[in-house]
Amino acid sequence: MASYADFYRRSIDDRDAFWAEQAQLIDWQTPPQTVCDYSNPPFARWFAGGTTNLCHNAVDRHLAERGDQPALIFVSTETDQETIYTFRQLHAEVQRMAAVLQGLGVKKGDRVLIYMPMIAEACFAMLACARIGAIHSVVFGGFASGSLATRIDDAEPTVIVSADAGSRAGKPVPYKHLLDEAIQLAKHKPKAVLLVDRGLAPMKLVEGRDQLWGALREANLNAQVPCEWVDATHPSYTLYTSGTTGKPKGVQRDTGGYAVALAASMRYIYCGNPGETFFSTSDIGWVVGHSYIIYGPLIGGMATIMYEGTPVRPDGGIWWQLVEKYKVTVMFSAPTAVRVLKKQDPAYLTKYDLSSLRTLFLAGEPLDEPTAKWISEGLKGKPIVDNYWQTETGWPILAVCNGVEPTPTKFGSPGKAVYGYNVKLLDDQTGAELTGANQKGVIAIEGPLPPGCMQTVWRDDARFVNTYWSSVPNKLVYSTFDWGIRDEDGYYFILGRTDDVINVAGHRLGTREIEEAISSHPNVAEVAVVGVADQLKGQVAMAFAVLKDAGQLDDPAAMLKLEGEVMKVVDGSLGAVARPERVRFVTVLPKTRSGKLLRRAVQAVCEGRDPGDLTTMEDPAALQQIKDLVAPVV
Ligand code: PRX
Repeated sequence: MASYADFYRRSIDDRDAFWAEQAQLIDWQTPPQTVCDYSNPPFARWFAGGTTNLCHNAVDRHLAERGDQPALIFVSTETDQETIYTFRQLHAEVQRMAAVLQGLGVKKGDRVLIYMPMIAEACFAMLACARIGAIHSVVFGGFASGSLATRIDDAEPTVIVSADAGSRAGKPVPYKHLLDEAIQLAKHKPKAVLLVDRGLAPMKLVEGRDQLWGALREANLNAQVPCEWVDATHPSYTLYTSGTTGKPKGVQRDTGGYAVALAASMRYIYCGNPGETFFSTSDIGWVVGHSYIIYGPLIGGMATIMYEGTPVRPDGGIWWQLVEKYKVTVMFSAPTAVRVLKKQDPAYLTKYDLSSLRTLFLAGEPLDEPTAKWISEGLKGKPIVDNYWQTETGWPILAVCNGVEPTPTKFGSPGKAVYGYNVKLLDDQTGAELTGANQKGVIAIEGPLPPGCMQTVWRDDARFVNTYWSSVPNKLVYSTFDWGIRDEDGYYFILGRTDDVINVAGHRLGTREIEEAISSHPNVAEVAVVGVADQLKGQVAMAFAVLKDAGQLDDPAAMLKLEGEVMKVVDGSLGAVARPERVRFVTVLPKTRSGKLLRRAVQAVCEGRDPGDLTTMEDPAALQQIKDLVAPVV
């Protein structure tokens, strides 16, 4: 077995040979002509000239060997459903969906927006798009009409696939009216809307536009839709993610590089074997859902569990019950979920036979030591592996690669640089590389990004370059916008974002987006939103608004009512997922003399920390108002 250090070095120093080997982990219709074309940095073209198909690699290629083994295990504790689709059954369902989409006019390169709860049909839709070379764009079901409309206009989908409703804690969460509102708000109009009717909420169908999956599926039961062989560089999907501006970016992913990166990660990082079961508790609306509910496990020949429900219903043992029942070997979740479980009876962890489980992977936000300790002890010392990555990269940047060489973990660290990623710590002011141990810098990646990472921002190459590759002076290097340090053994520790992105219960949100939503309330003149540390959710959003009519500022009841109204505005526009924990009202916001909002100072005050150097602040009373508002009542 190679040492990890050698394996890693080879991935950087002998890049093309390394990735040419990994490319053999997937099926190609035509083998790639080149490995990495980096003639136009920072745009990397991986495996160009090779043709392949993501759906073929996820489904068809397993038919011969494991056609009758489980592929998709759909479990809903919301509607008490449990359905196992074998690879053969999944193959049939995906072809039905592919035929329906084609029938609605979807062609290679067209976009299909998927706005769905965690149901099997969402998986069929994603794979069907991949099958016919259409580009899917999944929008998290928790987003509301404003967010959805922005994404519709950016992706310009031919068809939107949705459902009557999701369900949360046993209550239906209707989707259809939000979708109708979003289409109304958007300039772009889809040719058709395909709806799964779960019988959870009434739907009014728009004639000539809305179609029901149930009926169209019946009409296509025997559909045979061959895979469209696409170039490795053909976009497989876009996924929107928040950044510094109010406008989310469409992260665009390729086909061949992504398939290779995921196949390799299943082997070297997640150590999942064909025929086993993978359980990721994320949602298909997020990148973890794309890579490690749908594509990664299936490409690896594993069964994947798609779970609709909360971690605590019917009780706090539900996930462990599923581990026992489906002999899960690899589990993937987020620290937030573990913190939720931590409040439950610890007996749930010993109630079920968890002997199949080898490793629990956690990602998406910092894993604090108490949470890591609790779950590690609860799982009787089974390895808990933190891994750090982003929507942009699609698979881990930092982790321990036990599939290459068993590697110890360190509390608080997601591990070392993953093969393929030339990770550097840079001084944010000068761009100089920090090579010493325990120096704080920006985590950056030298190009080319490895296979599977974002190709560009959808239809906006300039934004890709300007956002990610231009923040370090005099260097074309990819910035993660995370601070970090690296210890003497090469383990990294993440110290938070350098920009205005916050992480609420593992959900990545832009404070600007929330500010824009709040500003649409007729009585809000100006607002600042900051992320504040929270024991359960990691961070929560806190809003401070200046009113146009401040007449009732001294009336607590009126302000409470207004706070509720503002929250409703956020719910209606972005979704409850972006709702601030509190909205407080002030007469002025802390700004520099040149008018720049001092978000960091506001955040520090909210967290009870020293706000630091305030000499540039225009009006010190502004920060005092916030201090008074957030001060604990004694
Ligand atoms: O700030 C980092 C944090 O989440 C950001 C990326 O979020 P998202 O695009 O939603 O992708 C999540 C994919 C797992 C990062 O820039 N983050 C992610 N993983 C970790 C983390 N922070 C600390 N530790 C992690 N393991």
